[in-house]
Amino acid sequence: MTGAAPQPSAHLHDAGTVVPGEPWSTGVARGDDGAVRVGGVDVRDLAAQHGTPAYVLDEQDLRTRARTYRRAFAEAFAQVGADVDVYYAGKAFLSVAVARWVHEEGLRVDTASGGELAVALRAGVPGADIGLHGNNKSDDELTTALDAGVGRIIVDSLVEIERLADLVASRGGAPAPVMVRVTTGVHAGGHEYISTAHEDQKFGLSLAPTRGTADTVADADDDSPAMTALLAVLARPELRLLGIHSHIGSQILDPSGFAVAAKSVLALRARLARRTGVLVAEVDLGGGYGIAYLPGEVALDPDRIAKEIAASVADSAAEVGTDVPRFSIEPGRAIVGPAGLTLYTVGTVKPVRVDEGLTRLYVSVDGGMSDNIRPALYGARYHAEVVGRLSTADRVLARVVGKHCESGDIVVHEVLLPGDVRAGDLLAVAATGAYGRSMASNYNLLTRPPVVAVADGASRVLVRRETVADLLALDTDA
Ligand code: LLP
Repeated sequence: MTGAAPQPSAHLHDAGTVVPGEPWSTGVARGDDGAVRVGGVDVRDLAAQHGTPAYVLDEQDLRTRARTYRRAFAEAFAQVGADVDVYYAGKAFLSVAVARWVHEEGLRVDTASGGELAVALRAGVPGADIGLHGNNKSDDELTTALDAGVGRIIVDSLVEIERLADLVASRGGAPAPVMVRVTTGVHAGGHEYISTAHEDQKFGLSLAPTRGTADTVADADDDSPAMTALLAVLARPELRLLGIHSHIGSQILDPSGFAVAAKSVLALRARLARRTGVLVAEVDLGGGYGIAYLPGEVALDPDRIAKEIAASVADSAAEVGTDVPRFSIEPGRAIVGPAGLTLYTVGTVKPVRVDEGLTRLYVSVDGGMSDNIRPALYGARYHAEVVGRLSTADRVLARVVGKHCESGDIVVHEVLLPGDVRAGDLLAVAATGAYGRSMASNYNLLTRPPVVAVADGASRVLVRRETVADLLALDTDA
């Protein structure tokens, strides 16, 4: 390697304190004996009872976030005279218990596959409170959705519109409730958003007409894929057009993209109304609400963002002379991410001299990229701490790595850990509740960890640990 030696980032905090609140769940506390409790349960007991690695989900924290999002958006949209639905995006993490919790807290459930749909239904979530997404839904998935009477199917292509309408025609029954997913050109995520007219990605139908721009085109000349799709839905009596959907990105910390997307979607809604006389009832702006992964990072504040979005939806509606539609959002990460942590056991510890004056302590844990692919996939940063005991040793620059045969198998890129971190220590990684278990794999034929819920001093397994017997059972030896 050439160039300057890697230096620890400025954002590193000496976070020997595991304190309730970001990036940890609100239910963490270090006991007098130095070990951390989550939801009132000692991490040493969790490890003894459930083994490591294990995903630990703080039930009260998750429920509180669900409730907070619902209340914040309901209040903000009440101010502008509109109703709101909050759909929990199950892709972040879905189990039967979690679907039940969020539903009990007044949320609906957004699913993106037959598997997610099956879990939501098993939880007893009524079909009417479920949405189904996907850019390539199978006939089986569409059939299951229709059988369950899902409240909305978000269609993503002209092919799908015809396929769904044909399916309804062949079965008979009520028209399928449909939203059309559009792309507004707004891409958000991380700390900024970008806007482009023509999107080179697989989701949704573009707002960009062939001639002119979405803002300048005459109503009758709007030949954008989005307008074409809306007209195609209206042309089929087997479909009932509920509204327009747009999801602009994930881990959004700069909320300005939502206002830009709202403006485009409300303008499209008004154009469709002028052209056809149909003013669709609903608009959904998707998920993407960012959370804190590192000490010092600040999550989007639900109350603030709800007010801002309600104001921009109301302003944009007023600008185009329509009412404010029924509104919905689909947060996933913001509900489940901070509620989760991953508990690992340290195996080996190895100082690696990176350069003159810089040694990095490589701390290997008993999981890795199979239970959290996000660092390898997105370069995502996480925070970790030794949680089974309190150490007063000086902190050293460490990198937490997994046990897979890849050098990119990094769990925490850089963190200051106590210099006496050693084999057998319990290590927790914060804010792994979203897109951890849900994106887990069996790479190297590791078995996927359990998801253990903690609440009121007790733990229970929501999803059990996979076993080698599970892996062998899939192998037919044919
Ligand atoms: N709605 C739609 C249509 C989505 O595509 C997504 C995420 C969400 C809602 C929920 O977004 P959230 O509120 O959780 O940010 N696996 C990646 C993120 C990809 C998310 C894709 N869609 C990750 O680990 O960050």
